Amino acid sequence: MDHNLTQSQLDAYWMPFTGNRQFKKDPRIIVAADGHYFTDDQGRQIFDGLSGLWTCGLGHRVPGIIEAISNQAHDLDYSPAFQFGHPKAFQLAERITEFMPEGLNRVFYCGSGSESVETSLKIARGYWRIQGQPTKTRLIGRGKGYHGVNFGGISVGGIGANRATFGEALNTDHLRHTWLPENHFSRGMPEQGAELADEMLEIIALHDASNIAAVIVEPMAGSGGVFPPPIGYLQRLRKICDDHNILLIFDEVICGLGRMGARTGAEAFGVTPDILTIAKQVTNGSVPLGATIVRQDIYEAFMATGAPEYALEMPHGYTYSGHPLACSAGLAALQVLDDTDAIQQVAKTAPYFESSIHSLANCRHVVDIRNYGLAAGLTLEAYPGEPLRRPYEVAMEMWRKGFYIRYGGDTLQLGLPFFVTEEEIDSLTNALGETLGTA
Ligand SMILES: Cc1ncc(COP(=O)(O)O)c(C=O)c1O
Repeated sequence: MDHNLTQSQLDAYWMPFTGNRQFKKDPRIIVAADGHYFTDDQGRQIFDGLSGLWTCGLGHRVPGIIEAISNQAHDLDYSPAFQFGHPKAFQLAERITEFMPEGLNRVFYCGSGSESVETSLKIARGYWRIQGQPTKTRLIGRGKGYHGVNFGGISVGGIGANRATFGEALNTDHLRHTWLPENHFSRGMPEQGAELADEMLEIIALHDASNIAAVIVEPMAGSGGVFPPPIGYLQRLRKICDDHNILLIFDEVICGLGRMGARTGAEAFGVTPDILTIAKQVTNGSVPLGATIVRQDIYEAFMATGAPEYALEMPHGYTYSGHPLACSAGLAALQVLDDTDAIQQVAKTAPYFESSIHSLANCRHVVDIRNYGLAAGLTLEAYPGEPLRRPYEVAMEMWRKGFYIRYGGDTLQLGLPFFVTEEEIDSLTNALGETLGTA
């Protein structure tokens, strides 16, 4: 197959979250993938150090998933999402609830993580309105939080660069992020910082709980740089939400379905939210699908407004909500997760990965290393006035060496495949150590 792209083909595509000008001068083109490796257009094998974009924990080209998608494409390529249904959407919804914490058992589909977040924020506001508390509209996020790129998501999101270009968003408040200097180089959950959850009390004092709908956090913040929650932090946030009648939303687009060595971040950290979002891993990245899962009584509240049964209970949804290909892929991916004990495997490999990644602590420019499950983040010392440059340079050198890792802001991020071997971990860590150099 000819993989050579013309300049006008390169020019035509405005790439997302990419330095387009640099990329188009020196394209990095992936043409195939299998297991833990990509093949680039030069025929090189490249280790996938972020499981796609935190999507493909089960590796690439998983036989059961390929088969499910191709069979589905033959049988039913699309079915209208509104007012009509197809069997796999219902089957997958029930299957998803088996992976969720007790009580979260109603599933709303969408096409991406960003949409799952928007859906969660709208459900939270709608819920209070139908409960007769229409002033409960304010949404609270957290510094360094990433909740996708739509207007609700960037409003509660806590990454300034993702907001700055786009002007005014929703009027929200933010808890402080949990990245404390005293926790640098923590292994797993940091010891200090549970009290940062109490910032919620200050926000409540400012606005009053009667005006606050929900607080949304990632159990472990991912794209902002991999920040596991301080011990006790999520418990404290849960209690404050309970005491003040505020909904707690966990954005588990990265944490959900295995990455933390548990079915969800909620399970890993022992706290159950009222609403939980997933995407990415639910189809192992093979077909876009997101979902927002809510407590049954939240769903029931929408059903019990007294409106006629033919009326819409919630005027919200997407053309691709519960797309047949996505639902087939989801059913297959969750089956493989179960059949292969992939989640237990993540928990088993996590300690080895932790020791390996922390062996880079003395490398040049490394300011902090954090990890949980099969996720890790490294913060690098910035070039003066150029905070984004060093991680980019390191990631490019890693690509040259045959490793794909993610760079974002002043961090490098790793999200290894669930069945990564110790040899693969060693070779990735060695290559990264060599690239960073030692102090
Ligand atoms: C926690 C979290 N929420 C939302 C999103 C947005 O997902 P998507 O890019 O599928 O819209 C992401 C993507 O990385 C994420 O990590």
